[in-house]
Amino acid sequence: EECTMKTVKDYIRTIPDFPHEGIMFRDVTTLFADPRGLRLAIDQLLHPYAGVQVDKIVGLEARGFILGGAIAHQLGKGFVPIRKQGKLPGKTLSQAYTLEYGEAVMEIHEDAIEAGEKVLVVDDLLATGGTAVAGLKLLERLGADVIGCAFVIDLPDLGGRRVLEGLDMPVHCLCSYE
Ligand code: PRP
Ligand code: HPA
Repeated sequence: EECTMKTVKDYIRTIPDFPHEGIMFRDVTTLFADPRGLRLAIDQLLHPYAGVQVDKIVGLEARGFILGGAIAHQLGKGFVPIRKQGKLPGKTLSQAYTLEYGEAVMEIHEDAIEAGEKVLVVDDLLATGGTAVAGLKLLERLGADVIGCAFVIDLPDLGGRRVLEGLDMPVHCLCSYE
C-alpha cells in the first residue's frame, strides 16, 4: 500500500462561485474538521516561532479565532480577539478598512494588550491584506510589538503579502492559490 502524507492544502476544499459567481472560495472548514488536518496546520503555523518569545496570540474574526485559540493553548499564552464592530463589550479602539464593496470596522479592547507585549497575529487567509492591516494598526495604537502574522492560505494575486512585507512585517503562510 502507498504511504500517503497529506499536506495542509490537501484538507482545504474549494467551492466555486461562493459568495459570488466567479469566486473560487477556499474553505478551511474541512481542514478544521479533520483531526490530523487541524493538528498539522497548528504545528506548521507555530514552526517559525519555536524558541521565539511570544506573550499573546491575536486572532482575527472569525476563523482566526479557531486557529488562534489552539495556538495560544499550545504555547500556554493568552488569546486576544480582534472583532467586527459592535461585538466587544468593553472600551474599544476602532479601525476602518476597505472591503471589496464599501468599508468595515475592526475593534480591539483597549486594555487587551500592554505596550511592549510581543504579539503573534493569526488568521486563516490573506487576500488583499485589508483585515490584517486594520488589525496591525489597532495593535500599533496599543503599543504592541507584533513579531509576525501567520496565515494558513495566501492568495498572492490579491497582494496582501506584499502590503504586509512593505510594512516590514514578517509573514508566514502554509500554502497559496494563484
Ligand atoms: C476573510 C478571511 C480574512 C479576510 C481576508 O474573512 O478570513 O479574515 O477575509 O481578506 P483581506 O485580506 O482581503 O482582508 P471575512 O472578512 O470573510 O470575515 P469572517 O471570517 O468573519 O467571515
Ligand atoms: N476563502 C475564505 N475567505 C476568503 C476568501 C476565500 O477564498 N477570499 C477572501 N476571503
